[in-house]
Amino acid sequence: MSDRSVTYGSYLAVDELLALQRPRSEGPEHDEMLFIVIHQVYELWFKQVLHELDHVIDLLDARELPRAQHTLKRILTILKVLVAQLDILETMTPLEFQSFRSRLEAASGFQSDQFRQLEFVLGNKSPAAIERFGAGSRARTALEGRFAKPTLWDAFLRYLSREGYAVPQPLLSRDLTAKIEPSPELQTTLIAVYRTDPRHADLCERLVDLDEGIQEWRYRHVKMVQRTIGAKMGTGGSSGAEYLARTLMTPVFPDLWEIRSSL
Ligand code: HEM
Repeated sequence: MSDRSVTYGSYLAVDELLALQRPRSEGPEHDEMLFIVIHQVYELWFKQVLHELDHVIDLLDARELPRAQHTLKRILTILKVLVAQLDILETMTPLEFQSFRSRLEAASGFQSDQFRQLEFVLGNKSPAAIERFGAGSRARTALEGRFAKPTLWDAFLRYLSREGYAVPQPLLSRDLTAKIEPSPELQTTLIAVYRTDPRHADLCERLVDLDEGIQEWRYRHVKMVQRTIGAKMGTGGSSGAEYLARTLMTPVFPDLWEIRSSL
């Protein structure tokens, strides 16, 4: 084998990857390794989910429904892993976390730009989330790019309109940086989709799965936070579990939930 041939290690950059876990505690504390690895794994999955969401948007724009559905299915499967992974972190007791928590200083998942990117693609955009990152940084550039871009919901509405459904014009030309607001006119159209068009109703159901999956992650995260730090403040400076509880039960695609009582 020549020195230049591709190997498992060189292709996956295993040496570089294994050098990226750098505990800060003295010793170091046994549980800090798990805490680092699990967050890094999350960041890698966030990267993949963003990659796939961008693909779904492109596929909807190209009116390639089966491939868009297939990609959504992949995203939903990853999301299940993201939720299930919290079980691993819940094997860490409050005292084990306490043994290295002070070494995190002000670091917090609150500062995950990829999580904010995910929120942006799903329509939950905020300029304040961008400003937390330094000018010119990778994180800020990525968030600025996504702030102005159409969300998955916009791609879905454009798709429905091209398929001949009545999508209110103001929704098709809405301010892409604004929050997604429920629309009674659109809900009438969505009810018709559910009643008469199983193929597209199925697409709507995958979006509901995605929405519910994100809400499920938030719920499981807040329960994990409650059992690990109780009512203590977060390292990111928020009120902790109390702040996180306020983010629960907020759907990303409100219209798809609103119509349920009329179906
Ligand atoms: C022992 C484990 C964990 C604890 C105690 C914890 C605690 C917290 C707390 C208290 C917050 C609120 C912000 C703050 O003031 O810090 C927060 C936010 C957040 N955490 Fe965690 N977390 C843990 C694990 C994780 C993991 C594994 C992830 C995966 C990436 C994660 C991602 C996030 C995200 C994305 C936010 C921002 C949520 C939002 O603003 O809606 N956390 N976490």
